Amino acid sequence: MGALDINEKRLRERFDAMSAVGATPGGGVSRQTLTEADRQARDLLRRWMEQAGLHVRVDDMGTMYGRLEGRRPGAPAVALGSHLDSVHMGGRFDGALGVLAALEVVESAKDRGLALDHPLEVINFTNEEGSRFAPSMLASGVLAGAFSRDYAYSRTDVDGVTFLEALEAIGYRGREEDRLGPVKAYLELHVEQGPILDRRGIPIGVVEGIQGITWSRVTVRGQANHAGTTPMDARRDGLLAAARMMLAARDVARAAGEQARATTGAVEQVLPNVINAVAGTVRFTVDFRHPDGDELDRMAARFQEEVARIAREEGVAAEVERFWTSPPVRFDAGVVDAVEQAARELGLDTLRMPSGAGHDAGLMARIAPTGMIFVPSRDGKSHCEEEYTQWEHAVQGVRVLARTAYRLAGGAGDAHGA
Ligand code: HGY
Ligand code: MN
Ligand code: MN
Repeated sequence: MGALDINEKRLRERFDAMSAVGATPGGGVSRQTLTEADRQARDLLRRWMEQAGLHVRVDDMGTMYGRLEGRRPGAPAVALGSHLDSVHMGGRFDGALGVLAALEVVESAKDRGLALDHPLEVINFTNEEGSRFAPSMLASGVLAGAFSRDYAYSRTDVDGVTFLEALEAIGYRGREEDRLGPVKAYLELHVEQGPILDRRGIPIGVVEGIQGITWSRVTVRGQANHAGTTPMDARRDGLLAAARMMLAARDVARAAGEQARATTGAVEQVLPNVINAVAGTVRFTVDFRHPDGDELDRMAARFQEEVARIAREEGVAAEVERFWTSPPVRFDAGVVDAVEQAARELGLDTLRMPSGAGHDAGLMARIAPTGMIFVPSRDGKSHCEEEYTQWEHAVQGVRVLARTAYRLAGGAGDAHGA
């Protein structure tokens, strides 16, 4: 077992234990942020970080840190992390693999007494998904200055519960002074959540950046009415208008080229939502993505025009609230190169690629040199119970994370060795 090696058995046991928290019948997890399942996952991580002898902190957004000091007091940290929250009926690898990989890398450094100059920090970011409290990457966004804490605290879920109420309810509201300090670099291991590596049979993705994302909420106001007595030409049907608008979102993406994405993933409200009434008010969401920020704006503008046209034709009122945009991100060339070099030294094939999914690394790139490592997702599936990564690939990703992190953390000994 070389000095760089990790404890595979420990990693697997922890991954299986974490996968049992919020487990769903189809092999996935439902661990939405700041729920009881999220609390259980956090408690598990806290216990493991304490057992590893790391200094554990929780900040005012509930983000968790486990720190291993380096030889140079006050040196900026090399931070490694991801998120333990999931979407509803999501996959057990999304986020959790990255957090447990970070813990394994830091604990292995301690086990082996690696003499590193810089401290290492494990991070579990609160609310990466944004599916309960929109938008995504709320805690890493507060850390990076993209959102104010008050904005984040005020976000509500579909039941009107605020982020702050939920954070306090699970007992994970920490202190602002416990936020991440000076950072030399941030690294995140994550499953690709797309089909590219799997199709090409390449085990490691060297991620160069993240595409742009923008979220909108559409509210359509028609007229609820009787299903039997209301003639077809006398209706102002909110649900039919919404259906046409959803198709329009897809057409906007198709017109913007093969890199564009449009997803109408959630119908948040249909009133009165009964079989024998024409729907009046309907609310639904739209997620647009594109690697080019200007094109993303053009897609949103075109969609707005389509909504107005369809509303006129259907005799309904409609408003589009474009409430969150995460511009495209390019990662630090030095960190990207370090990831690629570590993988090559381990004899692993690599592919430089963008990320289709958003990640906390996208916000961390605003405050520190950042890079990501991808491992393949079988059939490219994610945000579903079928999400799966071959364990051999996961372990290879952890090894690349370890080698990259130890090198960036610097120091004597064989941190750069075999
Ligand atoms: O939505 C995303 O891209 C990420 O998985 N939260
Ligand atoms: Mn994720
Ligand atoms: Mn996700």
